[in-house]
Amino acid sequence: MKTIRVESGMPYDVLVARGLLDRAGEFASAVFPRGATAAVVTDGTVESLYAARVRASLEAAGFRTVGTAFPSGERSKTLATYGEVLSFLAASHVTRHDFVVALGGGVPGDLAGFAAATYLRGIPFLQIPTTLLAAVDSSVGGKTAVDLPEGKNLAGAFHQPRLVLCDPGTLATLPRETFADGVAEAVKYGVLQDRALFDQLAGGDFGKDLDTIIARCVAIKADFVSRDEFDRGARKFLNLGHTFGHAVEAASGFAVSHGQAVAIGMVAAARAAEKLGIAQEPLVEPIAAALEANGLPVRPPFAVGTLVEYALRDKKREGGKLAFVLPETIGRCRLHEVPVEEVPRVFETALDAGTQGC
Ligand SMILES: NC(=O)c1ccc[n+]([C@@H]2O[C@H](COP(=O)([O-])OP(=O)(O)OC[C@H]3O[C@@H](n4cnc5c(N)ncnc54)[C@H](O)[C@@H]3O)[C@@H](O)[C@H]2O)c1
Ligand SMILES: [Zn+2]
Repeated sequence: MKTIRVESGMPYDVLVARGLLDRAGEFASAVFPRGATAAVVTDGTVESLYAARVRASLEAAGFRTVGTAFPSGERSKTLATYGEVLSFLAASHVTRHDFVVALGGGVPGDLAGFAAATYLRGIPFLQIPTTLLAAVDSSVGGKTAVDLPEGKNLAGAFHQPRLVLCDPGTLATLPRETFADGVAEAVKYGVLQDRALFDQLAGGDFGKDLDTIIARCVAIKADFVSRDEFDRGARKFLNLGHTFGHAVEAASGFAVSHGQAVAIGMVAAARAAEKLGIAQEPLVEPIAAALEANGLPVRPPFAVGTLVEYALRDKKREGGKLAFVLPETIGRCRLHEVPVEEVPRVFETALDAGTQGC
């Protein structure tokens, strides 16, 4: 079992081990009051795969459980579903002594987390990630949110979980593309901070080391979160590939998945770093190769002008500047802030010869 401590206003542990799903009750007992109600919130797919095992384990440890599930996918991450989850908690007589269990990928994690952050002005919650993306990224750090018709993650709160239980055994049922989305974020941590991790992921065949890889990614994320719980400084580094990536995602009307968009965005960031003289070694070729080895795309299927338009709508634009995280080497990046007027030039630099068909 690997344990990673996340230092935040209220520190908590992320446990990574196969078989944790069936031991959820045992570990929850160390954190939540005996006899409390555990409200398991998940999506339909994960409900049919894993909810019964989690609930059985919690009940065996003396918790009462109640459960609800909404249709799988980003389309459920809405104010309407959020309202339904709040009503479910109220109808189930959940109190401040009880807790929410966010079981699933980033969608149940963000949505159930936001419900926990706001129901009765905030109750504790337990994260049990079941996608690689949720394991290495969304279940750690306390960002919770729902989407609005105007954009993704526009309503949310910072609310740290009390505990994260990651059972890599659950990832065996993931569709290949959903698994690859998480690999894109894992490669991101390698480029940010860990060349050995990057090299291992670039090799493609890392299934037997998945526990170690997840724990390493979580430790890197935990380090950034601990230094900057509320996303005002160091945490910006976690946006490597995301400034370009968010533009690709939005331009596609979200047909390109987040992980695929981040993969394209990291290659764009590497190219910008090379052309702006920030890169201290060749970066485009190794980063693109690592992503392609894991079935991820590396070229945006859109014109630069379209992407610039979407990038400038991005909510991360602050004070007339846009922050790009650009790699210097595999394992070290820097923040490159650019006035809005110069954003089109950076995009052209980053995507030159990078769009499809060129
Ligand atoms: N809070 C954060 O810091 C943060 C960080 C990154 C991403 N996110 C959010 O995460 C979301 C994306 O996360 P995601 O890709 O996990 O999405 P998701 O939760 O929709 O999961 C993707 C698909 O995989 C299915 N699934 C989940 N676990 C499975 C399993 N073990 N076996 C088979 N199928 C399974 C789901 O039902 C869904 O259809 C986005 O909404 C994004 O905004 C949040
Ligand atoms: Zn991401």
